[in-house]
Amino acid sequence: MAAIGSAIGLGNLWRFPMVAYENGGGAFLIPYIVALLTAGVPLMILEYALGQKYQKSSPGSLREVKPGFEMIGWWALGIGASISFYYAVIMGWCWDYLIYSFTQPWGDAPEAFFHSVLRLSSGPGEVGGISWPVLAGLAATWISIYWIIKKGVLRVGKVVMITVPLPVLLTLFILIRGLTLPGALEGIRYYLTPDFSALLSGKTWLQAYAQVFFSLSLGFGILTAYASYLPKRSDITNNAFITSFADAGFAFFAGFAVFSILGYLAQAQGVPVGEVVTGGPSLAFVVYPTAISLMPAAPLIAAMFFITLLTLGIDSAFSIVEGVVSGVRDKWRISQNGAAAGFCTFGFLVGVVYTTGSGLYWLDIVDHWMNNYGLVVIGFLECIAIGWFFGTKKLRAYINEVSDFRIGWWWDLFIKWLTPLALGWALVANIVEELSVPYEGYPTWALLVGGWGVVAVIIILAGVLTGLPWLEKKEGE
Ligand code: PFF
Repeated sequence: MAAIGSAIGLGNLWRFPMVAYENGGGAFLIPYIVALLTAGVPLMILEYALGQKYQKSSPGSLREVKPGFEMIGWWALGIGASISFYYAVIMGWCWDYLIYSFTQPWGDAPEAFFHSVLRLSSGPGEVGGISWPVLAGLAATWISIYWIIKKGVLRVGKVVMITVPLPVLLTLFILIRGLTLPGALEGIRYYLTPDFSALLSGKTWLQAYAQVFFSLSLGFGILTAYASYLPKRSDITNNAFITSFADAGFAFFAGFAVFSILGYLAQAQGVPVGEVVTGGPSLAFVVYPTAISLMPAAPLIAAMFFITLLTLGIDSAFSIVEGVVSGVRDKWRISQNGAAAGFCTFGFLVGVVYTTGSGLYWLDIVDHWMNNYGLVVIGFLECIAIGWFFGTKKLRAYINEVSDFRIGWWWDLFIKWLTPLALGWALVANIVEELSVPYEGYPTWALLVGGWGVVAVIIILAGVLTGLPWLEKKEGE
């Protein structure tokens, strides 16, 4: 349940529609499904197996494979941490919208309203002022994360019993309303019509792989940390298949809701579906408020919907903190509470950058780089570490020993060859494009700082952490 809670989050309702929209709707679905089957499922089995076998966090278990590989684990946690810093800001927007739900001040210009809440500036170079509502939302997010961690995982287990089914129901409401709007079918057509020419673009493929990693919480070291808490004989393949398909299924389902509303907006504005909104991180905050205002009992539905987004996000955000804290606690003698409080405070402080007028631009840049060049690279390295240094046969033997559903040689083939080749190819094909066309037209210096710069800092930090000595805990501590 906790792993599903981590996987299903804003990635399904906020990021999936955004990436799908930017990549031409139906053009995205085929690469997404291929990415799910060729990297998502095999790597999820791998991450679960590592944590459960060694009963250690990601740096700890990769160190068991080969001491130098500890660095891959820290690298993964560094990317997870930097994702959590902006993820908490998006949750901050949700807190604000929860309050706005009662009056719905967005009227019929939800995009302009969203940008005014953020005090959006003209570009990443113009910092602008801090948006106080966003800052307050950010504080609320980190306080709730800390409160949940403090209260222990048992409480999370109970919360998840409500927060997993509730979003499905509410998304269904939005879907039904969306489908009954004029123009909805045009939106759905845009979502479902495959565009085979897009399959030739390295960018679409890399974004599909990156979205699968983000959505399934892969490449962050989280699933390894969670699996390390399970008894050594728990079923691995069942867990991996259930988590992957529940997550992808929910994203696909949410896509219908979003695209039906985009179809409606397109008709209302008299433009093609692909040109209704600017897209990017704003998309969900334009589309959902529009749909909500068109429903009976709008304030109630709106409030429920944003509570849903918050509850979906919180177990994901919490899982990143848990991944990092468990990595640190494996290596050094630090109390759970101290590590968690330190992380939450630091996360809040870094997040302030995203509450300024230029915050949305920086968020967009960091999100693009962390996913495309962070998670995907980690996935690639994990395949190399297990496929070429540890041996897939050895790990598969352990997986099959504890699982009902046994995996065959196909898994070895994926981890050793197909997955790293696919990820490597998507990375290379995309980097050529990335270097020649600046992402979303942002200035080069901003991409160097928020994109490659952040990537470089994380790699250096991972190296430093790997080099530091282990202060092993005493038995039973
Ligand atoms: N999987 C989460 C989502 O789709 O919203 C996002 C996420 C959570 C990413 C936790 C990473 C993570 F460690």
